[in-house]
Amino acid sequence: MSSSDSIRAHIDAHRDTWLEELDDFLRIPSVSTDPERADQVEVGADWLAEKLRDAGCSEVEIWPTPGHPVVYGAWRGADDAPTLLVYGHYDVQPEEPVELWDTPPFEPTIRDGKLFARGSADDKGQLYIHVKALQAWLQTTGACPVNVVFLIEGEEEVGSPNIEGAVLEHRDKLACDAVMISDTIMFAAGLPSITYSLRGLAYMQLDLTGAKGDLHSGSFGGAVVNPAEALARMIASCRDPETGEITIPGFYDDVVPLTEAERGQWKTLPFDEEQYRADLGVDALLEETDYGVLERTWARPTFEVNGFLSGFTGEGSKTVLPAKAMAKISMRLVANQDPDTIMDVVEAHMRAVMPPGVSLEVTRMQGGKPWLTPCDHPVMQAAGRAMHRGFGAKPVFIREGGSIPLVGVLEDLFGAPSVLMGIGLPDENAHAPNENLDIGNFFSGIASAAFFFEELGKTV
Ligand code: BES
Ligand code: MN
Ligand code: MN
Repeated sequence: MSSSDSIRAHIDAHRDTWLEELDDFLRIPSVSTDPERADQVEVGADWLAEKLRDAGCSEVEIWPTPGHPVVYGAWRGADDAPTLLVYGHYDVQPEEPVELWDTPPFEPTIRDGKLFARGSADDKGQLYIHVKALQAWLQTTGACPVNVVFLIEGEEEVGSPNIEGAVLEHRDKLACDAVMISDTIMFAAGLPSITYSLRGLAYMQLDLTGAKGDLHSGSFGGAVVNPAEALARMIASCRDPETGEITIPGFYDDVVPLTEAERGQWKTLPFDEEQYRADLGVDALLEETDYGVLERTWARPTFEVNGFLSGFTGEGSKTVLPAKAMAKISMRLVANQDPDTIMDVVEAHMRAVMPPGVSLEVTRMQGGKPWLTPCDHPVMQAAGRAMHRGFGAKPVFIREGGSIPLVGVLEDLFGAPSVLMGIGLPDENAHAPNENLDIGNFFSGIASAAFFFEELGKTV
């Protein structure tokens, strides 16, 4: 039997066991944002460390951080062969609103070939394919074609505040020739995809304060600036409603223009704007002159209000002129925008358009750099061949509008290319109720991950 056949046979023979393992993993409510579940996040780390040992990693460590721990594992038996760093996250998003789940979020349930549970697609099910891929090699041939290092964090869903420190502290153990991440989605079911770019993020909170305290809107309305209205105007001033463009001076300065080649390639993807609109349940989309939906979500930056709070929001009515207004805003960034520079220009714009009579406090919450590796890079192409073999269909090369803050950091630190081989699907409800993972994709993903070790061994 060729090694390729024995890998496939090994995966087939272990379907039930490995699905049961994933089921166990998904029962752990490792919600990183919830302080009351910190112990459960730790249970998740311990569980994963044990599975890395079972898979054949000879080095396994749990690194404490000021937040949740990082799980490290390594198998270094491939001598002079390249070293691959697999990055992922074992923390998950909160399950709220829990009443919208058809089955409980931490009791994995199979329906229609899909495994429903919080974290199934983002990212436990996806990261686990690499653990099983290593195990498949070690248990069938006794060796893996490349050295494999795992770096799995527990705080990705809260913006990865501590992973950079951990990476710097342990950089000698993490040196690598390439980085592999499965934490993204395929363009469509049956269409395996390699992601070669992510957007970055700049997240801020704006607190606007007017009078010393809330006021009677009859006695003072008309004389005193209303912070809710002032903040609404400040936010509204950030977009030209005609062109859809962001009007913050300097916002687009560092944007790398989209190439005609990429535009042409994306036009060949099976995308139906009418269907997209209908699936979302909206009768119109936000427009930006000259850019289609894929271009706007993959290659253009955004300005988004994530939350807005002011005044009386309870039942009934209350005639009040609020003293305060708060907004949480975030900008998704594209290559080569820098999060700090963008926060500077946003803050400067807000201060420039702010009316007298209010004061502004700006809190910079999180940032992450955008990332882009050309899709003709040999490591990207190796991943393309691996996915082709694993899924039996030729993959497409796509970008992604979401963010994974560590990718840019790893690239700067190790000078190694990253490749994103996600096996999620756009309708798998990541971050939402009824999150699920296609079970067929989980096993094709394990095969692809295993074949990637081999393809990478031939490449670097
Ligand atoms: N796995 C996602 C990134 C992602 C989003 C991939 C959408 C594919 C489609 C990741 O876990 C995530 O949610 N990232 C956050 C980062 C933020 C908290 C800094 C995001 O994009 O909002
Ligand atoms: Mn994720
Ligand atoms: Mn996520």
